[in-house]
Amino acid sequence: MRGNVGARSWLKWLLAVTVAFSPALPRLCAQMVMRPQSGIAPAPAHPKGWWPREGSPPRSAYTGPTVCAECHRTIYEEWKTSQMAHAIKPAAESKFLIAHPNMVLKRGRYIYKIELRQGQALYSVTDGQRTLSAPLVWAFGDGVVGQAFVFFFHGAYEEAEAAFYPNLDRLAVVAGVNRAPPPSLVEAFGIPSDAVGARECVSCHTTAVVSGGQFRISSVILGVTCEACHGPGARHVAAMQAVQRGAPFEGSFILNPAKLAAPDLESFCGACHRSTELVVRERLHGLDTVHYEPYRLEMSECWIMSQKITCITCHDPHKPLASNLTAYDAACLSCHSHSEAGFSGEVCPVATRDCVTCHMPKCHLPLSPFSMSDHFIRIVRSGDPCGSLHPF
Ligand code: HEC
Ligand code: HEC
Ligand code: HEC
Ligand code: HEC
Ligand code: HEC
Ligand code: HEC
Ligand code: HEC
Repeated sequence: MRGNVGARSWLKWLLAVTVAFSPALPRLCAQMVMRPQSGIAPAPAHPKGWWPREGSPPRSAYTGPTVCAECHRTIYEEWKTSQMAHAIKPAAESKFLIAHPNMVLKRGRYIYKIELRQGQALYSVTDGQRTLSAPLVWAFGDGVVGQAFVFFFHGAYEEAEAAFYPNLDRLAVVAGVNRAPPPSLVEAFGIPSDAVGARECVSCHTTAVVSGGQFRISSVILGVTCEACHGPGARHVAAMQAVQRGAPFEGSFILNPAKLAAPDLESFCGACHRSTELVVRERLHGLDTVHYEPYRLEMSECWIMSQKITCITCHDPHKPLASNLTAYDAACLSCHSHSEAGFSGEVCPVATRDCVTCHMPKCHLPLSPFSMSDHFIRIVRSGDPCGSLHPF
């Protein structure tokens, strides 16, 4: 691999040019951490027929995850404990609100409250004179780093400016929004989203909400379910049931992403986690891109030089996130170890374990109370600007 200098410098050049020519727009992180920019089209249809968030199959083509469980019981039981399965919930079912049924946040002259009463989560903000309030509809996020709340107000979805952060164990100003109190109560209350924004938010955290090309909240299957990744399953189920009854096997009629080439698999997960293509299109920059894992990973030498490392090298999408960092060593050592037959990478001169603690630093996201793992795998030098866009 070390000999492959030509390919390496060409790729670096290409990346540097891509980065240099995407204009540096000042951008509220609010729009990046949680909010998409208006006008972003859903991921385009893929030549392979199905792609996450693609949205063309009719609602009737989806079965829901409990049908998959009939034949894939183990995968289903594991998946049910993953964060992706719980990427959205009715607000009143939030584990955080159930544990803290009366929460208060002070922000300048504003006082925020979220109260769980008789099966309803009520959100209110007062400036001492006036009070605005609305029942919360959705809790977004299982809470790896946080949970945000969405309500319906004056005919549109709005995101509450108070969100829950498990590392603080309390409410704080939602990530991406300036901590300083805004001038008006209405601005302090929530962040309105237009129709495109609401569609984007919900379509990344759920399944089938866009079907037959139409966004309909009544179509939704909550969470990132089997069919959010594998595509609508009714035809597969019918075909497998026929096989069980003795019909000849004519094909599985469902996507197994393991069969995708590595760059396709990156943009497959990137349909929600944000691929390089989406990051360039949305003109996202600097530290704000730290949690766009596919994009960050593709900046690493590991990706550039192997074109093999993908999300599933380290994560099982059917299981909860592994929080024991030593568990990731095997993935690194599958390339960076002399003892491996498929040796393709250098061996670390410094340590033999806990690789990600040094090479995938946690970076603090601007305007947020939390840090996330930087998937740009690298040698971190002192003064390393976490999230630098000019790694080379
Ligand atoms: C009636 C039983 C049954 C049900 C219900 C079922 N499957 Fe399967 N599934 C199978 C069998 C059997 C195979 C193995 C067939 C093969 O070798 O391709 C399979 C294979 C798969 C594969 C791998 C396909 C490949 O080409 O490698 C995926 C992905 C999959 N199922 C997902 C799902 C999802 C998602 C659901 C729910 C929408 C589901 N299955 C429901 C029986 C079922
Ligand atoms: C339909 C959108 C969507 C797709 C496609 C998707 N993800 Fe996710 N993923 C999410 C969302 C939303 C979360 C946040 C879940 C939460 O914590 O609320 C998430 C969280 C995760 C997490 C952290 C927590 C967990 O659930 O384990 C990992 C790891 C992950 N995704 C890996 C993947 C991989 C690997 C792929 C591709 C095989 C993938 N994702 C495809 C939407 C998606
Ligand atoms: C392009 C797809 C996409 C859109 C649009 C999107 N999200 Fe997410 N969201 C994700 C993914 C993927 C994650 C997993 C972690 C990460 O990369 O930040 C996530 C994580 C989160 C988390 C943290 C989850 C946790 O377990 O800590 C919250 C809260 C959240 N999103 C809320 C929202 C809200 C509210 C909106 C709309 C206002 C929104 N998201 C729009 C894909 C999306
Ligand atoms: C976040 C995306 C994602 C979700 C959600 C998801 N899968 Fe998968 N699934 C994958 C990927 C990626 C692979 C290939 C993994 C591999 O080979 O390492 C896969 C492989 C499979 C396979 C074939 C390989 C095997 O392990 O047998 C089956 C069957 C399957 N998934 C069923 C399901 C079912 C059932 C659900 C819901 C309970 C589900 N998947 C949810 C991404 C997902
Ligand atoms: C699919 C194979 C593969 C995997 C998996 C992989 N790498 Fe790499 N990595 C490479 C290749 C190839 C290079 C290029 C240099 C070389 O040959 O070592 C590289 C380069 C590096 C470098 C040097 C970066 C630089 O800027 O000089 C570090 C550090 C590194 N990897 C750490 C890791 C860690 C830590 C993990 C696990 C979290 C990991 N790699 C997983 C293939 C891989
Ligand atoms: C080389 C190993 C490796 C690869 C490849 C990898 N991840 Fe991760 N990922 C990690 C580690 C380590 C963590 C931190 C786990 C923890 O803190 O508990 C993590 C955390 C996450 C999280 C949780 C939030 C955060 O950032 O802290 C998400 C979401 C995620 N990864 C998605 C992805 C996606 C999508 C891909 C594919 C582009 C991917 N990962 C590829 C090692 C990897
Ligand atoms: C305590 C922090 C630390 C841990 C843990 C660690 N590394 Fe490193 N690693 C470094 C530093 C610092 C360098 C740069 C050394 C230098 O340039 O002199 C480095 C260099 C590397 C390189 C580049 C080697 C080269 O010749 O260019 C690779 C590849 C690498 N590490 C992989 C790994 C893997 C795989 C693991 C886990 C088995 C790991 N590292 C664990 C700190 C660490």
